[in-house]
Amino acid sequence: MSIGREQHMAVTIKSPQELEKMRIAGRLAAEVLEMIEAHVQVGVSTGELDRICHEYIVNKQQAIPAPLNYNGFPKSICTSINDVVCHGIPNHKKILKDGDIVNIDITVIKDGYHGDTSKMFCMGKTPPHAERLVHITQECLYRGIELVKPGATLGDIGSVIQQHAEKNYYSVVREYCGHGIGAIFHEEPQVLHYGQKGSGMELKQGMTFTIEPMLNAGRRHVKLNTKDGWTVTTRDGRLSAQWEHTLAVTETGCEVLTTRSDESF
Ligand code: MF3
Ligand code: CO
Ligand code: CO
Repeated sequence: MSIGREQHMAVTIKSPQELEKMRIAGRLAAEVLEMIEAHVQVGVSTGELDRICHEYIVNKQQAIPAPLNYNGFPKSICTSINDVVCHGIPNHKKILKDGDIVNIDITVIKDGYHGDTSKMFCMGKTPPHAERLVHITQECLYRGIELVKPGATLGDIGSVIQQHAEKNYYSVVREYCGHGIGAIFHEEPQVLHYGQKGSGMELKQGMTFTIEPMLNAGRRHVKLNTKDGWTVTTRDGRLSAQWEHTLAVTETGCEVLTTRSDESF
């Protein structure tokens, strides 16, 4: 989500009944990413990937693709290629080509609750420098997740992500962040991917939020495409990568609600 807009709501603590619904929504979102993998091939258009995901979410999962019509977003998923940082709009004329890196971001609503997750795909013979950005960005997400438990702070998460990114000579996008999630797609708190250990809100059991770091190969600055009002790219034209999970804070740590079968937490 973008920084700066007021959320007008306090942080919500989910009941066990709500958490069960979040588990279901999270699992469905993860399953969309698992399903779409076979279709993410050189030569396919992002419009086609959107069409397949939309059909799967609506007809197979009997769920709702949250992005569609969200603040006017025109499609059911986000597809962000190479220098696109986030919120890329699927298009039948945009064809994935050899060497591209692409983020696919899925959010579904099931029984009133949201699950939000994204991953990167490397197309064909991706250059080692691009694969490395993708890999380090995933490590940033995982290092953030590892710290989530009652008593830790949001600043702990932001700090570990920023440190890992910058140690690897990458920059962290500041204008977009993780977010509380539940019956509302984007709610408090804002989960910054940079900051200082020990600062910010303390985590409590029953909170649910996303961590979704965006790392740039070059400078951190981004620009918004004013023609479509959505597509965010790096200012310097260099690559950007992002990975996202939705999590719940448990008594002793956290539960990753959007875990895929290629992951274990
Ligand atoms: N899924 C994105 C996120 O992680 C939000 C996409 S909003 C849209 O928060 F309108 F662009 F779809
Ligand atoms: Co999100
Ligand atoms: Co998302």
